[in-house]
Amino acid sequence: MDKMESTRDQLIQLLAENGDAYISGQALSDSIGISRNAIWKQMKELEKDGYQIEAKPRVGYRITEFPDKLSSNTLKWGLDTAWLGKTILHHPTVDSTQAIGHQAAREGGPHGTIIVADEQTGGRGRMNRSWHSAKGKGMWLSIILRPKILPNHAAQLTLLTATVLADVLDKYDSVKPFIKWPNDILINEKKAAGILTEMQAEQDQIQYILIGIGLNVNQTRDDLHEDIQSKATSLRIESGNELSIKNLIQELLIAFEASFDKYMEQGFLPIKKKWESYGFKIGEEIAIKTFKDYWRAPFHGISEDGALCTETEEGKPISLYSAEIEWFNDTNRE
Ligand code: BTN
Repeated sequence: MDKMESTRDQLIQLLAENGDAYISGQALSDSIGISRNAIWKQMKELEKDGYQIEAKPRVGYRITEFPDKLSSNTLKWGLDTAWLGKTILHHPTVDSTQAIGHQAAREGGPHGTIIVADEQTGGRGRMNRSWHSAKGKGMWLSIILRPKILPNHAAQLTLLTATVLADVLDKYDSVKPFIKWPNDILINEKKAAGILTEMQAEQDQIQYILIGIGLNVNQTRDDLHEDIQSKATSLRIESGNELSIKNLIQELLIAFEASFDKYMEQGFLPIKKKWESYGFKIGEEIAIKTFKDYWRAPFHGISEDGALCTETEEGKPISLYSAEIEWFNDTNRE
């Protein structure tokens, strides 16, 4: 980082930490070690970049509006969380936020660390699929968690994440989200978001869980890669509006923290109920594809550990952990 950048970052951080209160030019100059005139020049530069700054004579400066672009500072501004997102690692371009997340977690990155990128060149999906993550078009984010739960409960956190995403999207006009088992978010039967959970654990102890979230936000239909065009969608396509990715991330983090804290206090039951309230095709007949079979059966809901509760072809109740579900007017069959 060069001198100019680091001064600027320090300045933004000091102003951001001060929130709505003013901080004097003298205090800024003392903390950063540059002249008051240099502080004033830096403020003019920030304004050119979309920061709105109020300068009150003899009182000081404060930021009233951050630009709508992703950075650790813009994301932290107004992020009213207790532990989630206290460390935010933002990168303009990465291979995969999951790769950065694993590295950060191995190096001791704390519970609640966020890794976010404008663009991923090697975004990863479940089952070794790739995940298209074009610049500025979506939310490409990973969360490091170090929960005190048993490794065999980790899947519950993926289901929790799906409910949090659904809750956030449900608030947007003309968007009615559903969760396709186990954790794809559908709008109008097309996939808008996916979750990839990876874990490092020993016997009965989790070292960390890395929850990767990909949400299509501002793609037009033409922006969607042709191999997913018929089965994917974005918030912009569904709502007709371009949305702020920064705001969406902040809404997600606030909702995630509340839901995670509730889960640690009350366990999985409230999450299971919420998941089922968004569950796609619950109570209906679905097609189930496992590595060796394909059959139709009713979808009854999910179990305590997130398994798909359904029936065998002979009508015997079963719980499945690994399968794909489909439905019949399906455009989603691969
Ligand atoms: C899926 O297959 O549905 C899961 C997609 C998960 C994509 C997200 S984008 C952020 C994070 N980084 C990745 O490389 N993958 C996840």
